[in-house]
Amino acid sequence: MRFFSSTLSLLAAVASATILQNGQVRDMVFLDTTIASVASDRSWRTYGPSASEISYKGRWDSKHISWWSAPGLKFSFIGDKVAIGFGNYTSPGVLVAYRLDGQDWMFTNVTANSTHQFISSTTTSFNLTTQAQLPQTLELRVTNWAYGIQIAGVHVSSSSKLIKLPNYSKTIEIIGDSLSAGQYATYEGISSYAWGLGAGFGNVEFFITAYPGICLVDTNCWGNPRGQTYQWYHASDTSGRAVEIYNDNPEVWDFRKRPAADIVVINLGTNDNNTHNNVTNEKFLQSYLEFVQGVHQVYPYAQIILVSLWNGFSPVGNSYAQGGAFIEEIEEVYNYYKHTGFVHYFNTTGIMQHNDIGPQYHPTDVGHVKVASHLMQYIKLNFGWELGATGPEVQHDTLYWNDQQNY
Ligand SMILES: *[C@@H]1O[C@H](CO)[C@@H](O)[C@H](O)[C@H]1NC(C)=O
Ligand SMILES: *[C@@H]1O[C@H](CO)[C@@H](O)[C@H](O)[C@H]1NC(C)=O
Ligand SMILES: *[C@@H]1O[C@H](CO)[C@@H](O)[C@H](O)[C@H]1NC(C)=O
Ligand SMILES: *[C@@H]1O[C@H](CO)[C@@H](O)[C@H](O)[C@H]1NC(C)=O
Ligand SMILES: *[C@@H]1O[C@H](CO)[C@@H](O)[C@H](O)[C@H]1NC(C)=O
Ligand SMILES: *[C@@H]1O[C@H](CO)[C@@H](O)[C@H](O)[C@H]1NC(C)=O
Ligand SMILES: *[C@@H]1O[C@H](CO)[C@@H](O)[C@H](O)[C@H]1NC(C)=O
Ligand SMILES: *[C@@H]1O[C@H](CO)[C@@H](O)[C@H](O)[C@H]1NC(C)=O
Repeated sequence: MRFFSSTLSLLAAVASATILQNGQVRDMVFLDTTIASVASDRSWRTYGPSASEISYKGRWDSKHISWWSAPGLKFSFIGDKVAIGFGNYTSPGVLVAYRLDGQDWMFTNVTANSTHQFISSTTTSFNLTTQAQLPQTLELRVTNWAYGIQIAGVHVSSSSKLIKLPNYSKTIEIIGDSLSAGQYATYEGISSYAWGLGAGFGNVEFFITAYPGICLVDTNCWGNPRGQTYQWYHASDTSGRAVEIYNDNPEVWDFRKRPAADIVVINLGTNDNNTHNNVTNEKFLQSYLEFVQGVHQVYPYAQIILVSLWNGFSPVGNSYAQGGAFIEEIEEVYNYYKHTGFVHYFNTTGIMQHNDIGPQYHPTDVGHVKVASHLMQYIKLNFGWELGATGPEVQHDTLYWNDQQNY
C-alpha cells in the first residue's frame, strides 16, 4: 500500500496543480469558480444530490461519491446561473472538466466542503433568450481516477429549474486498468482511448470501470487490494480513498442503476503479466474465462470485445517491435467463447508504434487517439453503430497545427 500511496500522491499533485508536456509546464488556465455557500441563500434554488433531474454517469455510490475513471453528471437547466456544492468526501484539489452544451471543455479544481459556480451570464455561449425553447446543458467530469467528488447539491437561481435529459439509446462499458483510465495522458481520464471511444461516438452512454495497476485476477497488484473479477461488481474502485471510506467492505454495485451495456470492452492483463504480481498463466486464463461469463450474466445481451495487449515496444534488431502479453491465453478465451457469438477479439497489433508510448510506458495522447479511432471503426464495421459526434471536441487540447510553409 505504501508504494501505491506515495506514487499516487505524486501523480495527484501533478494532476491538480500543473500539467506537464514533454517535461515542460503546459500553459493552462484553471478558472477559479469558488463561491461562498449558497445553501441558505434565497436567490438560489437547491436540488439535493438524489434529484431525479441529475443524470449521473459512471459509478457513484449511495453517498453520491464518484469512483473509477471519468465519472460525471449531466443535466439541462433554465436560468442564469448554476453552482454545485461538493461534500466532505471530495478529494483535495480535484481537477474537473465541465462544459456548457457543445462548447470546449473548461477546467477548475474543486475541494471538500466547497461550492463552485460553473455557469453565469458571462459563460461563453450562455443564452438566456433561447433557453425557454432550448434548455442549456451542463456536463461535468472528474479527470483523475484516484480522486473523487461528492455531490452535496446543485443550485440554480430561485426562479429557475433543472431538467432531466434523455439518455442515448446505446451504452458502452470499458473495463480496464491504467491504460483505459488514461494514466499519464494529458487530461488523464478524459484523454484516454476509453474516453475517445465512448465520447467519440457522440451518441452513446459510456462508463469507464478502470483503475491503474489493477489486475484481472483477484489478487493484490501494485497495491490494489483486489482484482477486477471482484472489484467490478462493486461501486468503488481500489484507491486509497476507497479503502479509507469502505475498508474491505465496499458497496455492491447495483447494475440496474445504469442502462445495460450493449458493448463491453475488456482491456485487462497487462498488470497480471508483470512478474511482480505473481499471476500464473493458468490462473490468468481461468480468471478471464470466469470473468467473461460473469460479465455475460450481468449483461446477457452485450457484445464483449477482448482487447489484445500491446504491452509496450522494445528495440528489436535495428528497429522496434510490439511486445504483447498473454497472447495465447486471450486468444484461448476468445476461441472458447467464439461459438456463442457474443465474444469478439480486437487485435491491437499495428495500431500504435513505439513513439506512441510515453516514457512512463503508457500511450501518449496520439496513441490513445489511434486506439480509440480503430475501436470506433471496428464497432461500426462489426455492429453497425453510426459515428454520431457532430462537432464538439472529444479530446481537449489536441490541436497541434502548422501555420507556416516552405521550411
Ligand atoms: C486550484 O486553482 C486555483 C485557481 O486557478 C489555484 O490558485 C490553486 O493553486 C489550485 N489549487 C491546486 C491545489 O491546484
Ligand atoms: C467538511 O465539513 C465537515 C462538517 O463541517 C467537517 O467535519 C469536515 O472536516 C470538513 N472536511 C474538510 C476536508 O474540510
Ligand atoms: C462527512 O460528514 C459526515 C456527516 O455529515 C460525517 O459523518 C463524516 O465523518 C464526514 N467525513 C469526513 C471525511 O469528513
Ligand atoms: C441568443 O440567441 C438569440 C437567438 O439566436 C440571438 O439573437 C442573441 O443574440 C443571442 N444572445 C447572446 C447573448 O448570444
Ligand atoms: C439515464 O441514465 C441514468 C443512469 O446513468 C439514470 O439515472 C437516468 O434516470 C436515466 N435517464 C432517463 C431519462 O431515463
Ligand atoms: C510474489 O511472490 C514472492 C515469492 O513468493 C513474494 O515474496 C512476494 O511478496 C509476492 N508478491 C506479491 C505481490 O504477492
Ligand atoms: C506474459 O505474456 C507473455 C506473452 O504471451 C507470456 O509468454 C509470458 O509467460 C507472460 N508472463 C507473465 C509473467 O505472465
Ligand atoms: C494480430 O495481428 C498481427 C499483425 O497483423 C498478426 O500477426 C497476429 O496473428 C494477429 N493475432 C490474432 C490472434 O489474430
